[in-house]
This record gives sequence, structure tokens and C-alpha cells, in this order.
Amino acid sequence: MRIESNPENVRAQVREWRKQGLTVGLVPTMGYLHEGHKSLIDRAVKENDRVVVSIFVNPIQFGPTEDLESYPRDLNADSRLVENAGASLIFAPQPEDMYAADFSTYVQVNEVSEQLCGKTRPVHFRGVCTVVSKLFNIVAPDRAYFGQKDAQQLAVIRRMVRDLNFGITIVGCPIVREADGLAKSSRNTYLSPEERKAALCLSRAVRRGEELVDGGETDGDKIIAEMRAVIEQEPLAEIEYVEMVSWDNIQIHHKVDGPILTAMAVRIGKTRLIDNFIRE
Ligand code: PAF
Repeated sequence: MRIESNPENVRAQVREWRKQGLTVGLVPTMGYLHEGHKSLIDRAVKENDRVVVSIFVNPIQFGPTEDLESYPRDLNADSRLVENAGASLIFAPQPEDMYAADFSTYVQVNEVSEQLCGKTRPVHFRGVCTVVSKLFNIVAPDRAYFGQKDAQQLAVIRRMVRDLNFGITIVGCPIVREADGLAKSSRNTYLSPEERKAALCLSRAVRRGEELVDGGETDGDKIIAEMRAVIEQEPLAEIEYVEMVSWDNIQIHHKVDGPILTAMAVRIGKTRLIDNFIRE
């Protein structure tokens, strides 16, 4: 599997593909790839002639007390997964390949970044938008693939691409779950066996919310209260937020009368997990 760390070599390779009239897909990741990432790569491989998978634990999207140092990494296993999935190139830069010592340019998307994770992770989306803009400039893909598990991230990136005329199609892909319902996440590896069981309260709450909405309940506050009650039954769980927002602008919304995102962040011990459902 070809692994490049130098942005200019990636740019040169994409230029070659372009000369041959080939289309290019990009799957941005932070590595430690699982079935969720594989579903993005599979879709990208189906829809593009060549696929670049970026693997980069982006320091500027982590707050000072977050898990940057301990974030799991395994480039060998990742490169096997990417190769088996049929992608063409891994772009795995080092922080110094992406950020000059005096780096000073950031991309900030307002409104859609403000609620949910934006409240408790103040630098997060600025870091995500900055690195994704850099990846878009380096790879210049036709399409880029993001998981719906990070639903707010998907909304923020769609807004950024529209506002800044990137001319890239953003493809959102469904959440991939373990057999028992837990949404796949690289951070699941932090969970002890007891916490792993406790973490099921997130997908149980999602299912309860979906049942209510699909059964015709439109009162957002009632839906949120029932979802919170499911999580509160689990002693190891500490709710950061459970909210309903409008899917269009990620602002708090109290009624199911259009496209909505219902999202949660819950701590299980030291591990912060997110989950959600969308009704468009
Ligand atoms: O979703 C992620 O893994 C990251 O936020 C992303 C989009 C790769 C940017 O670092």
C-alpha cells in the first residue's frame, strides 16, 4: 500500500490521475480504522476511480484536557484495511507536514458549530474545518466521505463547503453499529468490559427516540426527556447533552416539524461517546 506523508507528493499523484481523466474520492480519518471507516472507503471505491484515505490525528481539534496523546494509532493495521478495501493511496502526514511552526490560519464556521459538541469542545470544529480545508486543498477530490455518527461535523463541513465554494460533493454515510447496537468508534477501545456494557445506554436511548418520532410524537422536549431517562438508568453514565436540533442549522428545536437531528454526548467513566439519529 502506498503511504505518503508529504502533501506535495499527494498533490502530484492526484495531478497525474487527473491527466488520465480519473475521478478522485477522499476519506478523511484519524486512523485506528474500523468497520465504520471501511463503509466510507467501500462507498468511495464504488463511486470514484481513485480513493485517497487520509490518516492524521489532528492536534488542533483537541482541547488541552482531551485525549490527543492517548488517541489509538495503528498504521500497519490501517494500511491492511485500506489496501483490502481497494483504495489507492494513504496520506499519513506528521503534524509538522501539516502545520508550520508559525501556522496562523484557521477556518471558523459559525452557527452550525455553536450547539451540541461546540459548547463543550470550543476549539474542536475550528480544528476540524481547518484540517479538512487543508486536505481538500491538497487532494482536490471530486467527493469526500464522512460518517453520520459525527452528525454535527457533517453539517459543519457541508456548510463550510457551500460557504467557501469548495466545489466538492460531501457524501454522508450511515452509522455502523456493533451487533448489540453500540455505534462503532475508535474510542470504544478505551472502555473496560463493564463500561462497554454500560455504553449500550446510548444506542438504547437512540432507539427510544426513534420509536417515539416514528410513532408520531412531535414534542421534542418529551422525546428528549424519555431518552435522558433511558441513559439515567445506567449508573456509569454521565450525560453531557441530549438535544434535538434542526438538521438545517443545528439550532435547538423543540418540535418534529421538519428535518431534525437528535444527538447526545455521554461520558462512560472517562470515555466520551456520541450517538444520534436524524429524520429528514
Ligand atoms: O472525523 C474525524 O475522524 C476527524 O474529525 C476528521 C474529519 C478526519 C478531521 O480530523
